[in-house]
Amino acid sequence: MNLYGRDFLKLLDYSTEEIKYLLSLSKAFKEKKKKKESHAYLKEKNVALIFEKDSTRTRCAFEVSAMDLGMGVTYLGPTGSQMGKKESIKDTARVLSRMYDGIEYRGFGQDIVEELADNASVPVWNGLTNEFHPTQMLADLLTMEENFGYLKGLHFVYLGDARNNVGNSLMVACAKMGIHFTCCAPSALFPNEELVKQCQEIALQNGATITLTEKVEEGVKDADVLYTDVWVSMGEAAEIWEKRIQELRPYQINQTVMDLAKDNAIFLHCLPSFHNIKTKIGKEMFDKFGIEEMEVTDTVFESNQSKVMDQAENRLHTIKAVMYATLKEEQK
Ligand code: CP
Ligand code: NVA
Repeated sequence: MNLYGRDFLKLLDYSTEEIKYLLSLSKAFKEKKKKKESHAYLKEKNVALIFEKDSTRTRCAFEVSAMDLGMGVTYLGPTGSQMGKKESIKDTARVLSRMYDGIEYRGFGQDIVEELADNASVPVWNGLTNEFHPTQMLADLLTMEENFGYLKGLHFVYLGDARNNVGNSLMVACAKMGIHFTCCAPSALFPNEELVKQCQEIALQNGATITLTEKVEEGVKDADVLYTDVWVSMGEAAEIWEKRIQELRPYQINQTVMDLAKDNAIFLHCLPSFHNIKTKIGKEMFDKFGIEEMEVTDTVFESNQSKVMDQAENRLHTIKAVMYATLKEEQK
């Protein structure tokens, strides 16, 4: 398997075998990290991280991975660079390619990261766009594999805004890996039809199914994995909260919902999450709408079934695998 020089923009661009390879590489890196074995295989390389939106996990995972691999890192935040204001995406891509060996982009439209990749002569990695969040998927798949020992044939249920970057990407990831995917949401928040069709075709080839339902009980029955994400994503208007809360309240993952799934079902969330009012927005929503927990209850979030911290840690090992696979000329 050789992914040298490839971009990582969305999982649709990667085959099942390539995804499996990235997962096995992630496991190897995780072991090395646990054993404190040095793995600075990319010394003398440098990467640029562009973040037009906030981030904790993705930024830290890229930075620590780059440092563990022996690379230099530059963080370009939402302000402070010329990109977008005085300089086009095309020019930015060409300039950064003259200095760096790889570029990460987190921001708005998928078209931006695609344009960056078209004009860069080094690998470009998508750290989240409005449409997709592919590095998150590798961490999610790794966490599921660690818990169940396999992926193919698992029953995965996503509750919430299924049209967002995480919802879209999970449907693709499941289809690619032969995991049965159920989206449980109000139909207005189902993923777009074209993507559903595309995923249904991929799922069929891999022996899996795609189901869209508005009914929670029906949707979560027999689930191995229950997954949710924030009800309003970065970049969406703050005014949308009220409507989203009304629409998605019935799709909250609480203990009753967990109990409908299999006994050994796990709970996953890409994070950050509103499971209490210990955040600025969480508190605001409580003050405005009297809601203390949103997409998941604190009980479920803190339960033994919740694997969200393993999932967050796995962002590190999987992002490291992506950078290594696409930047290392000769791979061990
Ligand atoms: N899950 C995730 O992408 O988290 P951050 O927004 O903190 O990077
Ligand atoms: N859907 C969320 C994911 C955050 C990691 C967002 O885009 O804000």
